[in-house]
Amino acid sequence: MTTTLTVTDVTLTYPDGGGRITALDRVGLRVDGGRIAAITGPSGSGKSSLLAVISTLQHPDSGRVLLETDSGSTDLATMSRREAAALRREEIGIVFQQPNLIAALTAVEQLEVMARLGQRLFVPGRVRRETHTRAMDLLDLVGLSGHEHKRPAQLSGGQRQRVDIARALMNDPSLLVIDEPTSALDTERGSAVIDLILRMADEHHAATLLVTHDRAHLHRMDSVYRMVDGVLTAEQDVKLAG
Ligand SMILES: Nc1ncnc2c1ncn2[C@@H]1O[C@H](COP(=O)(O)OP(=O)(O)O)[C@@H](O)[C@H]1O
Ligand SMILES: [Mg+2]
Repeated sequence: MTTTLTVTDVTLTYPDGGGRITALDRVGLRVDGGRIAAITGPSGSGKSSLLAVISTLQHPDSGRVLLETDSGSTDLATMSRREAAALRREEIGIVFQQPNLIAALTAVEQLEVMARLGQRLFVPGRVRRETHTRAMDLLDLVGLSGHEHKRPAQLSGGQRQRVDIARALMNDPSLLVIDEPTSALDTERGSAVIDLILRMADEHHAATLLVTHDRAHLHRMDSVYRMVDGVLTAEQDVKLAG
């Protein structure tokens, strides 16, 4: 299976008083399946805006966001809202800065809900059991066996972040988009979450974009980019250089 994400010349502006503010200025990057591109940069430089464009939540003013998978090639920058919603469900795993889990659901239910979104109203028992098994397996993978039936309030910050990552993998995405997953965690838990993301990219072969403040882990990434005032520059090709 091969996946490639290629971002070319993406520009995004937001209205700002009478004028417009340029959040992304002709941004380009490329990441292959199983690889992680890290993005660093000061607050307000456009990192989250780039992730929003790549995960189809925001249309850029111009440029291309090409996702090539075995099932074909799609420009995410120009999809309709309906196409984008379906594509997000099937191909894109999104992890935001703060895990946005549903308070009333247990860990395993958070994952099961992801699979349900794309299904019809009536789901045969066999499919429901498969969904349940996959959810349990993923929670095990992120080190949460024994915690499957806890609700978010009963989990620590690190555990909630791991539920969020497992949930993003539920539909076996070809693209994984992760925004500052360690910002609310202490060093040790943050480290464990980064370990997990590295393992997930490797085992699930998703092309992964990781926005992070945490410079300590950058040497483990496949490539590192830096965003300043909406301009993205390749910092180093870590693995090639090292
Ligand atoms: N929805 C929005 N409307 C208007 N301006 C926004 C919006 N989202 C972000 N911005 C502005 O775009 C710039 C980039 O923001 P953002 O992508 O959130 O940066 P970062 O994630 O690097 O902190 C900032 O100047 C921010 O204020
Ligand atoms: Mg941000």
